[in-house]
Amino acid sequence: MKRWNLILALLLITSMLLSACGKPTPTATPAPATEEATTAPATEEKVTVTIAAGAVGQELELAKAAAQRYMDKHPNVTVKVLDTPDLVQDRLGLYLQFFQAKSSEVDIYQIDVIWPGDLAEHFVDLYQYPGAKELAAQNFPAIIKNNTVDGKLIGIPWFTDAGLLYYRTDLLKKYGYDAPPKTWDELHDMAKKIQDGERAAGNQDFWGYVWQGNAYEGLTCDALEWIDSNGGGTIVSPDKKITINNKYAAEALDMAAGWVGTISPEGVLGFAEEDARNMWQAGNAAFMRNWPYAYSLGNADDSAVKGKFDVVPLPAGRAGHGAATLGGWQLAVSKYSKHPDVAADVALFLASPEEQKIRAIQGSLNPTVMSLYQDPDVLKAVPFFGSLYDVFTNAVARPSTATAPKYNDVSTLFFKAVHSVLSGDTDAQTAMEELELDLQDLLGYESATPE
Ligand code: GLC
Repeated sequence: MKRWNLILALLLITSMLLSACGKPTPTATPAPATEEATTAPATEEKVTVTIAAGAVGQELELAKAAAQRYMDKHPNVTVKVLDTPDLVQDRLGLYLQFFQAKSSEVDIYQIDVIWPGDLAEHFVDLYQYPGAKELAAQNFPAIIKNNTVDGKLIGIPWFTDAGLLYYRTDLLKKYGYDAPPKTWDELHDMAKKIQDGERAAGNQDFWGYVWQGNAYEGLTCDALEWIDSNGGGTIVSPDKKITINNKYAAEALDMAAGWVGTISPEGVLGFAEEDARNMWQAGNAAFMRNWPYAYSLGNADDSAVKGKFDVVPLPAGRAGHGAATLGGWQLAVSKYSKHPDVAADVALFLASPEEQKIRAIQGSLNPTVMSLYQDPDVLKAVPFFGSLYDVFTNAVARPSTATAPKYNDVSTLFFKAVHSVLSGDTDAQTAMEELELDLQDLLGYESATPE
C-alpha cells in the first residue's frame, strides 16, 4: 500500500471515530493551527515536516535529494517526502481529504498553478517568513501574481511548465523533412508518412503522435492548446465570459478526434504524461506533446531516443500561432501544520535559486527564478530553456483565476466534454453547446465570442 493510501485510511478512521463520539465533523473552514505551533528556529528543536510532492518522471527523487540537502544543513529537522498520485484530479482529491480533516500530517503541499484560487484558504501567507519577499522578487512577476491571493503569498514557485512538441530529428531526416511542422496539418501529414514508413519497415507498434488524452487535467491542457492555436479562446475569458461555444474551438476538437486511431493510438484516450513519454522514449512515436521534464529523461542512457530528438513550439492552427498551456508547481505551507515556520523555511530553501538550478540541470524542470535562464550551466544542460524562452513567458493560462474557486469543476466539465468528442460519442459542436450551458449553470457568467 502506498504511504498516502495508508495515511488517508487513518484520516478516514479518525474522522469516523470523531463523528461516532458526537464531536462535530471537521469542515473545510480554516482553523489556524497556531496553538501548537512552534516558534523555535529550525535548529533548536527536533522537528519533522512532511511534503506532499509529485512523482511524475524524476520529481520524487529530485525532491528527496533536495530534502536531504536541507537536513544536512539542519540536523534537527527531518524532511519527509510523501509521494502523491500523478493525475492532477487524484492529487487534488487527496489534498482535500487532508484539508477536510485539518490534518497536520502534511506540512508542505506541492500545488498546481491552477490551484491558488481554489485552495488559498488552507495555506499560510509566506510573506511573513524571512527571505520570502527577496525570493519572490527573483521570480517571474506573473507567477508570483498567480500565487498571490488577497495580498498573501500562498505558494512559492518551484518550477514552471509549458506544453512543447517533441520530434525525432533522425526520422524527420530519414523521411526527407528539413524542419519540424509549423501547423497541425503539417504535423498530421508528417506523422502519417513516418508512421506508414516505420510500420512497413517492421515496427508495428509505431505511432505518429502521442499526447495526453485521458479524461483529466492533462487533457484540459492539450485541448486548450488546440483550441487557442485555432483562435477558439480559453474556455472562459479573463473578464469572466464563457467563450467555449464557438466554431474554431469545435473545429480544433474535431481535428484532434480525427487523430485518434489514425496517427495516435486508440489508447491515447487513456494516456497521461508518463504513458506518452514511455511510448516515445521506447522509440515508438515520431512526435509527442509533453512538458519539459521529458527532455532530460529522453536523453538519459536508458532511453532509445537519446540524442535523436529535439523540441519546438507546438504547431499553429487557424490563429497563425501555436499555443503552449502554462503549467507549473508551487510549494505551499498548510495552515494546519504544527510547525509552519520550519515548513516555510524548508519550502523557501527548496524553491531557492540554488535548488532550482539543480532541478533544471538534472530534471529539465523550468526555473521560475528569472536569472537562471541566463545561467551557462543551465543552458548547457537544457539549451531550449534559452531558445524557447518566449514560449515559457507567453504560455496560455487556463481560466483558473476567472473561475476560482470553481476552476476544478470547470476543467472537469471541459475535459469530459472533450473526451466525449475524442471518443466519438458526441460531435464537437453539440458537446461545446452543452458545455456552454453547463458552465452557465455552474458559474452564472454570460457567454461571448473569444477576442
Ligand atoms: C503538469 C503541469 C500542471 C498541469 C498538469 C496536467 O504537471 O505542470 O500545471 O496541471 O501537468 O497533467
